[in-house]
Amino acid sequence: MEHSSQVLNLLAGQTDATGEVRLPSAGSDADVARKAAFTAAPLPSPPVHKLPAERRDRERILPPGAGGAGGDAYKMLRTQVLKRLAQLNANTLAVLSPTAGDGKTSTAINLAIAIAAERNRFALLVDFDLRHPTLHRRFGLKPTVGVEDCLQSRRPIHEALAKISGYDRLTLLPARSRVEHSSELLAEGRTAEVVAEMRDRYVNRVVIFDLPPVLSTDDALAFSRVVQAGLLVVHEGRTRREDVTRSLSLLQELPIVGTALNASREPSGTAY
Ligand SMILES: Nc1ncnc2c1ncn2[C@@H]1O[C@H](COP(=O)(O)OP(=O)(O)OP(=O)(O)O)[C@@H](O)[C@H]1O
Ligand SMILES: [Mg+2]
Repeated sequence: MEHSSQVLNLLAGQTDATGEVRLPSAGSDADVARKAAFTAAPLPSPPVHKLPAERRDRERILPPGAGGAGGDAYKMLRTQVLKRLAQLNANTLAVLSPTAGDGKTSTAINLAIAIAAERNRFALLVDFDLRHPTLHRRFGLKPTVGVEDCLQSRRPIHEALAKISGYDRLTLLPARSRVEHSSELLAEGRTAEVVAEMRDRYVNRVVIFDLPPVLSTDDALAFSRVVQAGLLVVHEGRTRREDVTRSLSLLQELPIVGTALNASREPSGTAY
């Protein structure tokens, strides 16, 4: 039954410029409005940027297909995360850690690449570390419109999307600059609206959010009411047990799909 409804959705949907299946839906007024937007002209495709191999390696970014050294660990993490997300019927995931520098952004990037390495699976990676956005720098991008502009001035999100050459099923939504009142912005209705749009628009996409540390600011806590699940990154030999406990107790209402161990040697993941 589930299989056939998926097939129906695919047949009823259309493929946009990124190759993802966009769904027309019906029902509520919002759905009708979404359907009207859907039937309008297709969205322009995001600009495609090159990522030179030397920058990619320096920034510890996996190659397309998540091959190479370290790829297996992220594929293992991916498979466990996707399984838990499916159990939760969720497709939005916040990548979290107790303190700064534990490897959230690196994990978010490589998890997204590993997800997009699966055929028929798409990943959207969003920089919601609006205190200290770094996603654009890791990929060498200089965005003129950032996700924060879409939240603050209601610009459509497609204006801020970017693609990286070779990473066919991965789309980035980077931030451009630091936002002063980021936790308030993340808690606002407009953010929930944008996330709902990301969540509903595509049937086969996982949306991954990079966030600031849980214990440094209230951004992650504010956003935990909007996102459906979290992945906790801990740094081997550095993250303190009490900080993990405090983070989990702050986030107690957010389903945590697992922990990812980031270590100088190899990242590895466990989901439970
Ligand atoms: N396993 C690793 N081995 C060596 N260096 C790493 C590893 N993981 C991440 N790094 C490097 O450590 C730095 C911090 O990593 P990253 O930016 O992923 O952490 P973060 O948790 O997002 O930090 P922040 O809290 O500042 O956003 C980066 O320069 C990254 O390249
Ligand atoms: Mg980071």
